[in-house]
Amino acid sequence: MTTDADQDLQSAKLRVEELRAQISYHDYRYHVLDDPEVGDDEYDELMQELRALEETYSQLIVPDSPTQRVGAEPVAAFGIVEHTVPLLSLGNAFNEEELRAWHKRAAGLAETESFAMVCEPKIDGLAVALEYREGSFAVGSTRGDGRRGENITQNLRTITSIPQRVSGAGLPGRFEVRGEVFMTKAGFERMNEQRADNSEPLFANPRNSAAGAVRQLDPRVTAERPLDCFIYALGWSQDGSAPASHHQTMKWLGELGFQVNPDAKRYGDIGKVWEHCQSWIERRDALDYEIDGVVVKVDDLSLHERLGAAGREPRWAIAFKFPPTQRTTKLLDIRVNVGRTGSINPYAVLEPVNIAGVTVTNATLHNEDDIKRKGVRIGDTVIVQRAGDVIPQVVGPVISKRTGKEKAFRPKRVCPSCKTKLVREEGEAMRYCPNGACPAQALGLLTHFVSRGAMDIDGVGEQLAASMLSAELVKDVADLYFLTEEQLLTLERLAEKSARNVLSAIAESRSRPLDRLLFGLGIRHVGSETAALLAERFGDIDAIAAADAETLADVPGIGPIVAESVHEYFARKQTKQLIEKLRKGGVRLEAERTAPVDGPLTGQTFVISGTLAAFSRPEAEARIKSLGGSTSSSVTKSTDFLIAGESPGSKLAKAEKYGIAILSDDEFMALLAKHGAG
Ligand code: IVH
Repeated sequence: MTTDADQDLQSAKLRVEELRAQISYHDYRYHVLDDPEVGDDEYDELMQELRALEETYSQLIVPDSPTQRVGAEPVAAFGIVEHTVPLLSLGNAFNEEELRAWHKRAAGLAETESFAMVCEPKIDGLAVALEYREGSFAVGSTRGDGRRGENITQNLRTITSIPQRVSGAGLPGRFEVRGEVFMTKAGFERMNEQRADNSEPLFANPRNSAAGAVRQLDPRVTAERPLDCFIYALGWSQDGSAPASHHQTMKWLGELGFQVNPDAKRYGDIGKVWEHCQSWIERRDALDYEIDGVVVKVDDLSLHERLGAAGREPRWAIAFKFPPTQRTTKLLDIRVNVGRTGSINPYAVLEPVNIAGVTVTNATLHNEDDIKRKGVRIGDTVIVQRAGDVIPQVVGPVISKRTGKEKAFRPKRVCPSCKTKLVREEGEAMRYCPNGACPAQALGLLTHFVSRGAMDIDGVGEQLAASMLSAELVKDVADLYFLTEEQLLTLERLAEKSARNVLSAIAESRSRPLDRLLFGLGIRHVGSETAALLAERFGDIDAIAAADAETLADVPGIGPIVAESVHEYFARKQTKQLIEKLRKGGVRLEAERTAPVDGPLTGQTFVISGTLAAFSRPEAEARIKSLGGSTSSSVTKSTDFLIAGESPGSKLAKAEKYGIAILSDDEFMALLAKHGAG
């Protein structure tokens, strides 16, 4: 049961997240783009609201909330380090013109058109300076204000990629290297998974957690955080004869034992540099750490001296910054579409806006409550964000841009497709169209049924599904199995060959595993995982249909809401008819019966964590089962073995805690080989 208090907390949580996203957007406008969009008053209002919520719901406070931010002022607790040579910052270029302008200026001052440049990923972490004395790591500090930073030596010692000792040819007696401390994406995920397991607050992103970790007062806490470091410059050296170019310096530092970035590239031509910068926009997601741009540096170090700095920005380097993943645009309209289960999904129609290389015209708004909470109105200027492959989202309105002509969204009362009166159940944020024969639902359902993760019927896409429905060749998914070639040929733009391909794809789908069929039916709350649990537990569709809600809820992994939804679905008259039709159409309605095997692993339970070198997880599980063993997805006290592949995550820690035997990838392979299943 969810209580009112739960719901309040839930909506406070959503609001807090929204406020943080908005504040970080305005910080970015202000600090990075130097182009604030809102005045101080409005910014302060957002902060006030966030503070108030965090005061009421202290469990929502996270260390990286903007309210918890500590200034770049060095904190006396750490001791202060005066930087021998100041740590500079970097000028920014946001487009080709600005990059070329930087190059032209440097070329003019250097009195040469042709000089080599090195491009390096701009790591989104925090700058550190590391001083070595006689080959030994002596003092590590933050950038601070560039002249004075904090002494965080003890914390930096816990980072394994920062060598405690270095050695090699030409080692100066004293020198300082500079670099960026960061957290890998995988390390960040793992850390948050563990924090979730321990009910500790989660961090918002790798950068903030890295920054928080190095400024911990207790180095033991830092040591537990998965930190890493790339060195990107020699700060100064006392007596050494440093190399003449940046790329040679990096090579030398690498030989001394420092971790330098393997993705650095050298070019002689600014056009090539620009292409390189562009290429990272696509490739950045493939890196295991976050980058926010590309640093372009003049390679020849004697030119660095000649070029010097303008204020705190060197003229010999520039940061190309990736286009922001948040932009503002006009909210033209709020429309709704009808999902396959009848859910009414509002979405934003936007004035087209280019966000990080992709033109965005629509964004999701989830549900009515979401619209209310965000307070967006039609006609508003809104902040829109996109990340990776996810559907763009509306973060919220820019209140200062209001003209007074904006209109509130009026929730729809009837289905836009079939005009049936919509229903909204207690405690549900969504409205539903209750009409089982609603055409929009039928299309959504049919498209879902034929999709990859479900029955995987190749050649039937949304368009063909729509024309089959409008020609009334099919009324429900079971009708697919009675289609004839003649019928298909009556459809426009479907040639004989494609018709035959479609029919053979449909025929092939008759033998899909039961869980794929269950998922394909589009039962509310039944995703592919729940479908697999049901198929495995009940073995055939009639047993599922016959089960009452209580029996369904007894299945581990299936809660009361899902159980109720499944029960309700199978109790319907239409469902019963549909299943009979599927049966007549020759569709498989039972799981593949694999008689329990009696073998050398009978009675042993295995859990796989991380990726295995030789097998996918299902393949590995099939092999274990073929030897009589059973598998589970979570570690409990009765687990017998944990198989730890690469990046095993929190399950490994749990297994260690319970003292469960751990098999490496190799040991697992040896075990299979021993029993002839390798
Ligand atoms: S060189 C004088 N190289 O970016 C310039 N900086 O916005 C010295 N950063 O404070 C910096 N990756 O923390 C350089 N490959 C890289 C970098 C990098 C990240 C950071 C650095 C600096 C900030 C400037």
